[in-house]
Amino acid sequence: MPILDSRLPLVAAPMAGGPSTIALARAVAEAGGFPFLAGGYQSPDALAEQIAQARSIGGGFGVNLFAPAPTEIDEDAFEAFVDEIAEEAARYDIVLSPEPVSDDDRLDDKVAMLVDTPAPVVSFTFGLPGASALRALQSVGTTVLATVTTTDEARQAVDSGVNGLVVQGSSAGGHSAAFDPARDPRPLDTAELVRRVKHELEAPVIAAGGVDGPDAVAHLLEAGAEAVSVGTLLLRTDEAGTSDAHRRALADPSFTETTITRVFTGRPARALRNGFIDRHHDAQIAAYPAVHHLTKSLRRAAAAAGDTDRLHLWAGTGWRSARAGSAADIVQWLAGDD
Ligand SMILES: Cc1cc2nc3c(=O)[nH]c(=O)nc-3n(C[C@H](O)[C@H](O)[C@H](O)COP(=O)(O)O)c2cc1C
Repeated sequence: MPILDSRLPLVAAPMAGGPSTIALARAVAEAGGFPFLAGGYQSPDALAEQIAQARSIGGGFGVNLFAPAPTEIDEDAFEAFVDEIAEEAARYDIVLSPEPVSDDDRLDDKVAMLVDTPAPVVSFTFGLPGASALRALQSVGTTVLATVTTTDEARQAVDSGVNGLVVQGSSAGGHSAAFDPARDPRPLDTAELVRRVKHELEAPVIAAGGVDGPDAVAHLLEAGAEAVSVGTLLLRTDEAGTSDAHRRALADPSFTETTITRVFTGRPARALRNGFIDRHHDAQIAAYPAVHHLTKSLRRAAAAAGDTDRLHLWAGTGWRSARAGSAADIVQWLAGDD
């Protein structure tokens, strides 16, 4: 049985922080793709509400959750980073707190909610679910996926008993799913990683990262993926909740490359290279979610002001092919279904 029950082998990647909306999920499902909701950063109640709406679409859908392992914070390094970016925040009259804030994104509450009101598919990123969470989700009929970025992570995930893998190459937009945020992601082509994982392990694979058109989708399916997950190419669609500043930057020719950075959140993430990344590259620290919480108000203010120089402009290497228009058109184009 296929791991995802959609007509097309095309997945709308979960994109937390705004882009993944119910409108996007609906448009992708109606076009024959498989939609994901982004559970990260949302309260359990808000996520439950989105899930109720996703159920009303009919058909399958997935819910993505963050499962980072707790990290030790070097308080001196954190304070130094606060000093480093204080001037940027001061432009918006924001005073940054030197106290690192840590949380687990209410993972246990979200899992409990998903056990009470099951979703067809739940995927995890940044780490694996605990054994009891995994068992509880599977016992209510949920297919559980783990996002991995290396064959080693893939092996750990398969050994833990998940039903399938989201294999994310280093070309992917947004956060790397790497279990260890301090590890520098090595450049790893998504198709190559899919081939290696399929060679070593018996697990259904959804490939993610770097899609820039239908040929890339076909290439990933040929490499052995059951389906292909697309994020960046949906960011400019009518139904996505992407901020105006982010949309503008994706279409702005003055951005010439993407790069992997920890400056915004303390976790490696691929973004359009901008001034904030360049100015603070040397001072970046691997302290997630403390850096995420630290820079949140600054990034919110930058987004509201249209300040793309201080915003986390998540984008994969295929960003130049991100088109405006309906998500259905993009899904059909990518799947060669038009
Ligand atoms: C704006 C944005 C937000 C993202 N948020 C999440 C998330 O919440 N959870 C997750 O597992 N992956 C997240 N990702 C990664 C995507 O799920 C996916 O792996 C990636 O977009 C695929 O690469 P592509 O962007 O080159 O298509 C995000 C990506 C982007 C661009």
